[in-house]
Amino acid sequence: MNPDKFYVTTPIYYVNDKPHIGHAYTTVLADVLARYHRSLGIPTFFLTGTDEHGQKVQRAAEQNHITPQEQCDSTVVRFQELWHKLGITNDRFIRTTGDFHKKVVREVLQDLYDRDLIYKAEYKGWYCVPDERFFTEKDLVDGKCPECGRPVTEIIESNYFFRMSNYQQWLIDYIKSHPNFIQPAFRANETLGFLRQPLGDLCISRPKARLSWGIELPFDPDYVCYVWFDALINYISGVGYRQDDEMFRQWWPASYHLIGKDILTTHTVYWPTMLKAMNVELPESILAHGWWLTGREKMSKSLGNVVNPMDMINRCGVDAFRYFLMAEMSLGQDASFTEEAFVGRYNSDLANDLGNLLSRVLKMTLRNGGGVIPAPEAPDADAEELLQTVRAAREAMRKALAEMRLEQGLESIMNAVRAGNRYLEKTAPWTLAKQGETGRLRTVLYTASEALRQISVLLHPVMPEKMTELRLALGLNAAEAAHCSIVELENDANVLSGRQVQDSAGLFPRIVDEPAPAKPAPAAPPAEKPVNLITIDQFFQTELKTARVLAAEKIDGADKLLKLQIEIGAEKRQLVAGVAQFYTPEEIVGKTIVVVANLKPARIRGIESQGMLLAAKKGKELRLVTVDGEIGSGASVG
Ligand code: ME8
Ligand code: MG
Repeated sequence: MNPDKFYVTTPIYYVNDKPHIGHAYTTVLADVLARYHRSLGIPTFFLTGTDEHGQKVQRAAEQNHITPQEQCDSTVVRFQELWHKLGITNDRFIRTTGDFHKKVVREVLQDLYDRDLIYKAEYKGWYCVPDERFFTEKDLVDGKCPECGRPVTEIIESNYFFRMSNYQQWLIDYIKSHPNFIQPAFRANETLGFLRQPLGDLCISRPKARLSWGIELPFDPDYVCYVWFDALINYISGVGYRQDDEMFRQWWPASYHLIGKDILTTHTVYWPTMLKAMNVELPESILAHGWWLTGREKMSKSLGNVVNPMDMINRCGVDAFRYFLMAEMSLGQDASFTEEAFVGRYNSDLANDLGNLLSRVLKMTLRNGGGVIPAPEAPDADAEELLQTVRAAREAMRKALAEMRLEQGLESIMNAVRAGNRYLEKTAPWTLAKQGETGRLRTVLYTASEALRQISVLLHPVMPEKMTELRLALGLNAAEAAHCSIVELENDANVLSGRQVQDSAGLFPRIVDEPAPAKPAPAAPPAEKPVNLITIDQFFQTELKTARVLAAEKIDGADKLLKLQIEIGAEKRQLVAGVAQFYTPEEIVGKTIVVVANLKPARIRGIESQGMLLAAKKGKELRLVTVDGEIGSGASVG
C-alpha cells in the first residue's frame, strides 16, 4: 500500500430504507481505519454517502406516496444522523443526486460512447428487481436470481451496452498479478471463478418508460443510466475526478474500497473494467467483509430480521457498540449478532478488564498523595515489562492494520490491559502503602497510569469518547485528552507526573442480567426486536422425525387427549397428545406427522407417552405439522 496517504470508502447505501447494523458495521470499520491512519500521521480521506437512483428508490418512493427526490431527502437524514451519533469522521458525504456527481457520470458516459466503448443493441434478459441486476438465461439458478434466489422477470428491449467483455482476459491477469487487489484471498478466487465463464457486455441503460429515476444518458434522452454504473463512479467523483485535478491526484487511487461480500462482483468485475476503459488507475484494494447474521441468516431489510443500531446505542452507548463490532467480527468471515455475545464481551473486556484497571489506578492514586500522579522512582523490571507489553500491543496494531486483522490488534491491546491488572496484583500497591514503601509505590502508580494513557491512545480510534473520558480522569486537560496520536506516544512520556486524577463514576459499568434501556426505547415493530437466538447445535439437540399414525383412540376421562400408536421407520411407539378437541381419531390415523423423537418418556394420566408431536397453535386453533408430500416415516426433520 502507498504509505503516504490513505483513502478509504464505504459502499454508498441505498436510500430505500433506514440503516441497520450491517451498514453501521462497514461505516464504523471505515471510520476506525481512518482514525488509526490519522493517528499514525498519514494524510487520510474517508468517503461515504448514499446511492439515490434506481428502481429500489423509485419503488420505495411509490410505496411511500412521495417523489423519489423526497424519498432520498428524507432517508438520507437517517443515515447522516446515525453517522453523527456513531462519531463517524467522514471527510465527505456523497449523494449521487448531487449535480457535480451527475455531471461526472454524464461525462464518463459520453466519453465511452464517443470511443465506441458503449453501443446500442437489443437486449433480452432477466431482471432481479430487488438486486437491480440483469442476468442472462445461463446465469439463472433454477430460473431464479443467482445472487438472492428470488424470482426474476423477463425483459426484451433496446439498450446501451458497455464493452465489458473486451477486458475479461486483462482482468484475470490483473487479479492474478496483484494478490492484494481483492481481499481476503478467497474472495479473489471467487471472482476468478466467476470470470471462468465468458464475460458479457454490461447493459448500462434503462428505458425511461420503465424506470425514470436515474441520470439521463447524454446521448439519448429516452434512457437513464443503470444505477450501478452511476453509483460506482462515486468513488472517483467524490475525490474530484474531472473537477479538481489536484484533489484527484492527491487521493486516487483509493487504498481500500470496503464492501460487504454481497456486492463483490460489481466491485471486482464491473468497476475495474470501467476504470480500465476510462484509463483511470485501479484502486489498491477491495476488501469484502462477511455478513452480520441473525442466527444463520443474513441480517437484511427484506428478511425483516434486522437489529436496529439506534436501539443498541441507546442501551449500551456508542463506544461499546463500536468496540463490539470491531472486536467480534474477524474480517472476511460472517459473525452472529446476539445480545448474549454483546453483553459477554462488554462485561469481560470493557467492564472487568479495562474499566477495572482504571478504577483501581484512580482509587489508589486518590488514597495516596491526594490524587496526584507521582513521578516514578528508579525504573524496575516489573514496570519495564508492563510498558514493553504496551509497546508490543502498539506494534501488533500496526501489523494488524497492514494485514486488515483489526480484531487481532484489539486482542493485543486487551492483552496489555490484562497485563496492567496483573501488574497491580503482583506489585500490590495497597500493601506497599501500608508498609510505607513509598518509592516503589510511586513507581507502581505512575507506571500503571502511563500504561493506561498509552492504551487510551491505541483504543481511541475505536472508542473515541470513552478514551477521551479516561484521559480526563487521568488529569489531562480537555485539549490533551482529545488529542491522540500514536506516533507521538513516546514523545509524551512523563506527561502524567504531577497530574491530578479525577474520580470517574465508572467508565464501563457492568451490565447485569439484561441490558436495561438507558432511556425508554421507542416502541419498535416486532420484526426489529432482537430475537432469542440459539446455535444450530442447540437446535439439533432436538431430534425431529416423521412418524405415521397407525391407530388413535380417545382416553376415558381426558377429553383433550388422544392415545396414538405411531411408527417411526421400523420402530413403533405410543404417544399421548392433547389434540382431541381438534382431531377425531379417524381424522388423524394415516397422517404423516412430525414428532420429537428424543424426548424423555413421560406418563400422562397414567399412560406412557414416548415422544411429542408438533402442532401449530394460535388462539383457539390448532393444526398438526405434517409433511408436504410422501416421504415415509422415520425421516429426519430439520
Ligand atoms: O448494495 N452484514 O447498498 P446497500 C454486514 N447501493 N454488512 C452489511 C449487511 C450485513 N448483514 N447488510 C448490509 C448497495 N451491509 C449499493 C452499493 S456501492 C457503489 C453501491 C453493508 O444499502 C455492506 O457493506 O444494499 C453491504 O455491502 C452494504 O451494506 C450494502 O448496502
Ligand atoms: Mg443490498
